[in-house]
Amino acid sequence: MEGNHDHGRALEGRRVVIVGGTSGMGLGAARAAARAGAEVIVAGRRPSGERAASAPEDARLAHETVDVTDEGSVKALFERTGELDHLLITAAPNPGSWGVFLEQDVAGAQQFMNAKFFGSWACARYAAPRMRAGGSITFLTGGAAVRPRAGASMVSATFAALETLARGLAIEIGPLRVNTIRPGYTDSEMWSFLDDEAREQLRQKVRAAMPVRRIGTVEDIGHAAVFLMTNPQMTGAVLEITGGETLVDGL
Ligand SMILES: NC(=O)c1ccc[n+]([C@@H]2O[C@H](COP(=O)([O-])OP(=O)(O)OC[C@H]3O[C@@H](n4cnc5c(N)ncnc54)[C@H](OP(=O)(O)O)[C@@H]3O)[C@@H](O)[C@H]2O)c1
Repeated sequence: MEGNHDHGRALEGRRVVIVGGTSGMGLGAARAAARAGAEVIVAGRRPSGERAASAPEDARLAHETVDVTDEGSVKALFERTGELDHLLITAAPNPGSWGVFLEQDVAGAQQFMNAKFFGSWACARYAAPRMRAGGSITFLTGGAAVRPRAGASMVSATFAALETLARGLAIEIGPLRVNTIRPGYTDSEMWSFLDDEAREQLRQKVRAAMPVRRIGTVEDIGHAAVFLMTNPQMTGAVLEITGGETLVDGL
């Protein structure tokens, strides 16, 4: 693992739920939280038998199933998991549901917003009453919140709305803390729809374009997630972890 991602045992005795923690950045965060001493529950749609386990920490993760687009499923998840200290939601629909503005109708445009924004909203809504003192909620958006791209305006609108929801909730449900991670290009399973060659080309393009000359890793995001869970002064913040993506021309 490149860089120092060590938080010691900062989450010892804490209970962490990560919705989307079965893959990509959520799994990176789950491993980081487990290394920091937390009891970690990861949730996603796939049955637990279909989830990859490749790191030593994975044996320590507890598994739940949930579909964030189904309010009843989210409610039931938090009834099962009970009290918790920290919640991170990374789950989002796949790129197929973005859409070109002039080819969309209202129902189409609502798809990404419904799944990402209201999915995250529902997780926060049903977790918050079960959160212990010192607890935190972290949403996850992306650089598109501030750098819109043609054909993905609903992604930008949804991410910006979610970041604003976090700031509103930071006031409404304080002293619980509510923050957002805004990642940039991160080398995760999300890109597995590309073949090996196309994925390597993407990595090279990102390395060439970013001020840090590297592509983000899920460990970078895991490190940030544990920081937001453990720093008691962090609330209402957007923590951008993009390697400088929002400072330069897009890919
Ligand atoms: N990776 C990047 O470069 C990047 C950059 C900027 C922003 N983002 C944003 O961050 C999100 C997460 O990225 P990632 O790289 O961690 O993706 P990922 O590896 O594809 O992980 C997505 C996770 O969300 C879960 N999930 C998806 N739909 C769900 C649903 N309806 N209910 C419950 N869980 C659901 C998946 O599990 P199941 O499939 O089992 O449900 C999986 O655990 C992306 O979707 C995107 O919006 C990513």
